Amino acid sequence: MELKDKVILITGSSSGIGKAVALALSHKHNRIVITARRKELLADVADNIQKNGSEALSIAGDALDEEQAAGVVQQAVDRFGRIDIALLNIGAGPSLNTANAMPLDIKQNMRINYDSMINFFCPLVRQMRTQADGGIIANTNSLAGFQGMPTQGQYSAAKAACRIFLDTARIELKPYNIRVLTLCPGFVVTERNKQRGIPRSLTMTMDEAAGHILKGLKNEIREYLFPPLLRNITMVGKALPQSVREKILTKLATSD
Ligand SMILES: NC(=O)c1ccc[n+]([C@@H]2O[C@H](COP(=O)([O-])OP(=O)(O)OC[C@H]3O[C@@H](n4cnc5c(N)ncnc54)[C@H](OP(=O)(O)O)[C@@H]3O)[C@@H](O)[C@H]2O)c1
Repeated sequence: MELKDKVILITGSSSGIGKAVALALSHKHNRIVITARRKELLADVADNIQKNGSEALSIAGDALDEEQAAGVVQQAVDRFGRIDIALLNIGAGPSLNTANAMPLDIKQNMRINYDSMINFFCPLVRQMRTQADGGIIANTNSLAGFQGMPTQGQYSAAKAACRIFLDTARIELKPYNIRVLTLCPGFVVTERNKQRGIPRSLTMTMDEAAGHILKGLKNEIREYLFPPLLRNITMVGKALPQSVREKILTKLATSD
């Protein structure tokens, strides 16, 4: 889908990748709906969207609240009449070791990554089913969702859950012309996630990540893993026997 003159909802757009995607799309005369909890940061993003020639609607809210998420979709439709593209981008992956994790911390991560996506997904499907040309629902997933990573088990599990859920949705929503995309970045250096000793060759800037996400949306790539080097490492890793994979991950986890 051409990414201009469209109504685009981006969740988790007060900072990081979501903000970078919103700003990248703002140069193409779109109507952009941004949402997250931090109102002041959203207002700043909205100002910049407008300066760049697009319209902005900023709605502060907590995506863990089902009604608030449905309200965001409704307000977007009330203002712009439809939603062409939704990027469900909210997520976080704080480090957690299973040796001493508490149930609440593990389940909270599932809520942030999975529940936040579902709370928007259902009202979006209801809306897009009324649109003759359907629409695009995309999730900012992660390469971490393809492999249980040390200190990131709960995050890998949550992202894998999103991906598998969307695999089913992609098939079921085809008759309604709703295209479902899973966009999987590797390491991205954001305000919250400063480089953690990861070599530059294995990281992306937020603008680079946003560029890949725009490519995934424009070309409607069902499952897009990026950047290419980390994609290849992920794919090779998946193909290795479990015992070999475990040895490599153990070594990585214990090396400084
Ligand atoms: N950074 C990476 O290396 C990387 C790699 C692969 C995938 N990803 C994925 O990319 C996505 C964006 O992450 P990021 O790195 O850009 O992190 P970030 O800067 O922390 O962005 C997360 C966004 O989600 C919003 N958010 C969090 N909890 C929320 C809630 N309960 N309700 C509403 N909004 C909420 C935050 O805004 P408020 O705090 O204002 O609510 C913020 O706008 C996530 O899904 C992440 O898993 C990141």
